[in-house]
Amino acid sequence: MSVFQAPRGTYDLLPPDSATYLAVREAIAAPLRNSGYGYVETPGFENVELFARGVGESTDIVTKEMYAFETKGGDRLALRPEGTASVLRAALEASLHKQGVLPVKLWYSGSYYRYEKPQKGRYRHFSQVGAEAIGAEDPALDAELIILADQAYRSLGLRQFRILLNSLGDKECRPVYREKLQEFLRGLDLDEDTRRRVEINPLRVLDDKRPEVQRQLTGAPSLRESLCEACRAYHQEVRELLTEEGVSFTDDEKLVRGLDYYTRTTFEFVHDGLGSQSAVGGGGRYDGLSEMIGGPALPSVGWALGVDRTVLALEAEGVRLDLPAPTSVFAVPLGEQARRVLFGVVTQLRRKGVAADFAYGGRGLKGAMKVANRSGARYAIVAGERDLAEGIVQLKDMESGEQSPVPLSAVVTEIEARLS
Ligand code: HAM
Repeated sequence: MSVFQAPRGTYDLLPPDSATYLAVREAIAAPLRNSGYGYVETPGFENVELFARGVGESTDIVTKEMYAFETKGGDRLALRPEGTASVLRAALEASLHKQGVLPVKLWYSGSYYRYEKPQKGRYRHFSQVGAEAIGAEDPALDAELIILADQAYRSLGLRQFRILLNSLGDKECRPVYREKLQEFLRGLDLDEDTRRRVEINPLRVLDDKRPEVQRQLTGAPSLRESLCEACRAYHQEVRELLTEEGVSFTDDEKLVRGLDYYTRTTFEFVHDGLGSQSAVGGGGRYDGLSEMIGGPALPSVGWALGVDRTVLALEAEGVRLDLPAPTSVFAVPLGEQARRVLFGVVTQLRRKGVAADFAYGGRGLKGAMKVANRSGARYAIVAGERDLAEGIVQLKDMESGEQSPVPLSAVVTEIEARLS
């Protein structure tokens, strides 16, 4: 029988590369933790209706890409394609919005699932770290989130990314614009699929990447010029706050995003080294989502950054993260008695918080030293019967190659001192 393979559109995270993924998650989470966001975790699946209503019946995510299924008990569920609807559902269910000051600020990290056509940077199982600030309408909150994402990417050493920024208007001005746009689009020479989109979700047509469609879009009514006064002022304030904090962005009137819940501010982080799947993260304001899923009016804003694509962006820029070696000390016992003694030393080191590992499987000195080398450990402890008879172990500095005898009783404190 041949070995099973990971399902199409998925891949495994394995050491040593998996360490980079963990570091990326951590780097994105750090500025959030530092800015009042609390950690939230929700189930990997939800009632399918939550996404249908929240993300939007007309979106590709809901119509084509959702892993929806019926359980043996007859529940209609879907693997989560995104995090915002779930996080808001959880906050509403626990009445977090009634328990303190608003906004409720939450961050999350996890797996998401979309049945997309796989290609580099586009997977059926992928990972996001996200943040949602629920229940406040304040341009400074939109700016805060964009600044924190920018800070996260910069802390990873990324430079070749750009921020695209737009405003999609609100429930006052967007319907008016939508109608104006529809009228314009109905007069164009479009294929049947696109004509259908004109009727269901005309703003998405602006985002069509095909040149023959883009060519026809010159002269389309401008979204920016259709914004009502309140939306215009709000957007201007977000832009000014970003500029004041030194975060540069590009105004992109065509940035519509693939989820229906957005109102006002929308933004995307794109990386220039990634080819067609260039969006490393995105988000925006979703002032109406709470009501769409049965809650009270709770204007909110958030983003999600793709971990997989952020790792690809690091590769594209040739950035290597400065990750600490997973092991600081590697113990190499020579003989049965040494095995027991050094196993004890390794256990003590670990209890003191020193990352330590052990040559298992009774290899010879040469083989074991090779493993010690590969582990990246700074120090190796080597001991045979003769050393133990003298009450010592050999402590080898793997960087300089220097080796010196250390009393067995002092080896843990000696290593701690040298590593500190
Ligand atoms: P999204 O733009 O659909 O937004 O996804 C955010 C990020 O997740 C993308 O920029 C990309 O990096 C990553 N991503 C999405 N799909 C895939 C895929 N198939 N393979 C690899 N990476 C992928 C959202 O999900 C919204 N919930 C963001 C948000 C939060 N808006 C407000 N709050």
